[in-house]
Amino acid sequence: MRPTPFIAAVCLAGALCATAVAQPPPAPAPIKAGTKMLTPKLLMKHVVNPAAELFWKHSGQVVDEEGVKDRAPGADDAMWLDMVNSAAILEESGNLLMMEGRARDEPWMRFSRNLVDAGALAMKAAEAKNADAAFEAGSAIYDTCFGCHGRYIPRPANSLYKAPLPGD
Ligand code: HEC
Repeated sequence: MRPTPFIAAVCLAGALCATAVAQPPPAPAPIKAGTKMLTPKLLMKHVVNPAAELFWKHSGQVVDEEGVKDRAPGADDAMWLDMVNSAAILEESGNLLMMEGRARDEPWMRFSRNLVDAGALAMKAAEAKNADAAFEAGSAIYDTCFGCHGRYIPRPANSLYKAPLPGD
């Protein structure tokens, strides 16, 4: 409970403070990562990648000999729900990447926050069943994956690829 302005004023006056304002219980300590947690590689393989694949599968268009086909779910509610669920997994995965035991330097944290943001956008788009917004969010997700991999997955010393910084 937040103190009312009146109680706050009494508070400023001094000793009454402790009795006038009910002290909120102390915030619980942040949860420490358990000793058992997926390696980044397994988190990618079994959590992040399947969720991203599922989300991307239902967005954008494919062109084949019969013409352009929309992959968006249209009236298929179960498919939209798959997208909402996979977007939620991606959003939370960004947090998992920032957890103690996985956290790295500042750009890593920025890429991870970008995944949280892109996942949240994707979730909103899928909840609204908005195919264009879902496509946009899918691209934002892709940029985050690609950017982080460019910077953190080791490549041959003579690679011509220059890893972009988040936001570039
Ligand atoms: C914050 C950084 C970061 C972000 C964001 C990120 N990845 Fe990764 N990813 C990594 C790192 C680091 C590895 C290499 C892990 C290793 O081999 O130890 C990796 C590896 C992978 C792999 C290979 C796993 C394997 O079996 O070797 C896949 C697939 C993958 N990521 C998919 C994705 C997708 C899809 C996204 C976006 C939705 C994504 N990643 C976002 C850091 C990231």
